[in-house]
Amino acid sequence: MDKNFYITTPIYYPSANPHMGHAYSSIIADFFARFKRIQGHNVFFLTGTDEHGQKIQRAAEKRGVDPKKFCDEISKTFRDLSRLLNLSNDDFIRTTEKRHSKSVENLWKILEKKGEIYLSKYSGWYSVSDEAFYTEDEIEEINSKKKSKVSGSPVEWIEEESYFFKLSKWQEPLLKFYNENPNFILPESRKNEVISFVKNGLKDLSVSRKSFSWGIKVPSNKDHVIYVWLDALTNYLSALNYPDINDKLYKDFWPASVHLIGKDILRFHAIYWPAFLLAANIKPPKRVYGHGWILSGEEKMSKSKGNILDPIEIINNYGLDPLRYYLIKEVSFGNDGNISKEKLESCINSDLANNFGNLCQRVVAFNEKNLNLKIPNQYEFITDDKKILEIYNSNYNNLINDIDNQNINNYMNFIQNQLFSANKYFNDQEPWNKKTDLKRMNSIVYVSLELIRKISILLYPIIPNSALKVLKIFNIDEKQIDLSSIKEHELLKKNSNINKISILFKKIESKND
Ligand code: MSP
Repeated sequence: MDKNFYITTPIYYPSANPHMGHAYSSIIADFFARFKRIQGHNVFFLTGTDEHGQKIQRAAEKRGVDPKKFCDEISKTFRDLSRLLNLSNDDFIRTTEKRHSKSVENLWKILEKKGEIYLSKYSGWYSVSDEAFYTEDEIEEINSKKKSKVSGSPVEWIEEESYFFKLSKWQEPLLKFYNENPNFILPESRKNEVISFVKNGLKDLSVSRKSFSWGIKVPSNKDHVIYVWLDALTNYLSALNYPDINDKLYKDFWPASVHLIGKDILRFHAIYWPAFLLAANIKPPKRVYGHGWILSGEEKMSKSKGNILDPIEIINNYGLDPLRYYLIKEVSFGNDGNISKEKLESCINSDLANNFGNLCQRVVAFNEKNLNLKIPNQYEFITDDKKILEIYNSNYNNLINDIDNQNINNYMNFIQNQLFSANKYFNDQEPWNKKTDLKRMNSIVYVSLELIRKISILLYPIIPNSALKVLKIFNIDEKQIDLSSIKEHELLKKNSNINKISILFKKIESKND
């Protein structure tokens, strides 16, 4: 089994401050990174900012500042957001860094040397907002404005000398690659979209621009800057110290395990990126997963639409873990999902405060009163106990499999069911009525504590801070979390001390009460 796991988020445009869509991509990637770490994998988790191109140049001009200064400022807000979201990223890359331009220039030179790039002239539509070229059939006119049918963004006509990448030549090899690597693009529906797009025919791709200067220069012709997507995609290699292919990071982590992206940037990751890499004789990533959008009402949440739920404001008002839990649970992974403050509040109350928080409080308080904050000494499992404990063991491989296929929904369902079952177990077994049968009372408490331990381990990738607080009951710290320990039923040492915990999640009072 491959023990190395490399996961990436998209690198974000620092053209505006971060919003919920960015937070979503990052939180999901962090979830996978944390899960694989506690599964015992050697993980590299990368995020960063995508700082070149016309979009950024224009945004900087609009503010009247030098683009580098502009990027320094906004890139910092993304770095700060990473901390605020408690991301466990191992690196944060900026495309304005030297290590990155070196890597892009090298990739360019290889492509040029291999005859994959030629000089010609581009005339066609370009969307600065998407940094994408569109064909005539991808354009429509709305209120006498030309827009991309694909993204809805405005397009402009450009005509300039440009280098082209021979994308058309890679049509058949790409189809062969998709066929041989059926899980390269997930979810399945997106894969079909990509395959039919490629089957429709690929045109050579313009990979340089001449009419502005904010970017990495074409090594052999300084009048041109390298197309921002060729530049940006290469970040995934730069962070591993490419072009030094003997570097340990590169050797351990390339090809990437998963590029996690939003569905709007699938074309770049699932078509252009593997084509560039195949052409340069570099292995493509193992998987590109295109998640859905966070919607507000029926629309994509985005700055230009002005319908933003600000992650920073939500975190300040409700806390980080509630936001992480809510986004992972509420948005059916792979699909679009609507979010709202009302639904967030009810999720905090039901799942976090009532089900998880309350379970921990009740069991520990009962233990304190009756067992003096000690793990029970004498216990014996009856069928009910074994049944509920066994569920973790018998579902272990399925859970791993779910995560390896980015099936977060199954994982979340499992946790929700187990939270419900654990509460029900404690209620039904009525330890408070077993004061004359101390062994039974002890057994119920032991099982309940084991359930709390197991559930907290499963919750750790989702709500790391809260899960760690709970695991502190048992003096388990972050480095000691081992996913496979959920298969064990008697890990808690008899007679050892446990710690009390403070309230984990405050219930939100409804404004209508
Ligand atoms: N810079 C490029 C990515 C380059 S990767 C080599 C880019 N940046 S972005 O800032 O516009 O978007 C980054 C990610 O945020 C994309 O995956 C996009 O799908 C995601 N989101 C932006 N708005 C979103 C929602 N409303 N919902 C969910 N994710 C969305 O594209």
